[in-house]
Amino acid sequence: MPTLKRRNATACAVTPGAPSSAGIGMRTLRAGARRGGALAFRLVLWRLRMLRPGRLPGRVTIWFASRTWGNRGFSADPHYIRTCNRALLTTAPTNVLECGSGLTTIFAASLGEANGFSVYALEDHEPWRRRVQNVLSAAAVHLLPTPLTSFGDFEWYDISGVELPDFQVVICDGPRGQTRGGRYGLAPVMGSKISGATILLDDARRQGEQAVLARWADEHAAVVDLDLDCKKGLAIVRFPT
Ligand SMILES: C[S@@+](CC[C@H](N)C(=O)[O-])C[C@H]1O[C@@H](n2cnc3c(N)ncnc32)[C@H](O)[C@@H]1O
Repeated sequence: MPTLKRRNATACAVTPGAPSSAGIGMRTLRAGARRGGALAFRLVLWRLRMLRPGRLPGRVTIWFASRTWGNRGFSADPHYIRTCNRALLTTAPTNVLECGSGLTTIFAASLGEANGFSVYALEDHEPWRRRVQNVLSAAAVHLLPTPLTSFGDFEWYDISGVELPDFQVVICDGPRGQTRGGRYGLAPVMGSKISGATILLDDARRQGEQAVLARWADEHAAVVDLDLDCKKGLAIVRFPT
């Protein structure tokens, strides 16, 4: 089994890039929270719509979004969202692939709208896809209905019939943990479309993700940087071109 290189959070391959835009003022946020999560989340969306090119959503905006979106058990944690956002700015992609949609899609879509890249998100759970779609106004995102299908010893999103470009960044927070083969399918199914891309895999502390990383390294020559200093752990992965 290959050894996976461990890094600490500050030494992540994705460098802290652009400055943050000022977050929403704490007083406004607290007032929003008192009036209820839905209204407070609308404040977050409003703030994200005003994002300017080259600017990152502030820490307070991300923190507040994760508390008011209302799906904490499944949502990415603020550290993962921040790392993805930084990668999206420093990499300056043309196209971004997301596996599994939610809060991360909302941030990626806002950054895409402000900075001129497109986001393609694969989602197998149709009611969930509709919920995410309802809050997305950005034209920069394609939230694709892609049920899971069997590829032998693993399952992955069915992308047959979907035309996809080459991707420079992949946000991989799906499919769900109990899926057969976990997130292994990204490498064999997406193949050359993601070679050379910066891949951000969430939940790297989980046994399932550790097994996927080892298999990617073994079978697909993946180069893996682990960041285990955050709650769920994340990995930054690259497949050779
Ligand atoms: C870890 S979640 C993706 C979360 C997303 N990156 C975010 O930040 O919100 C992976 C998948 O779980 C499913 N999912 C999300 N919320 C769910 C819920 N409350 N109950 C069951 N499945 C859910 C969706 O199909 C989603 O694509």
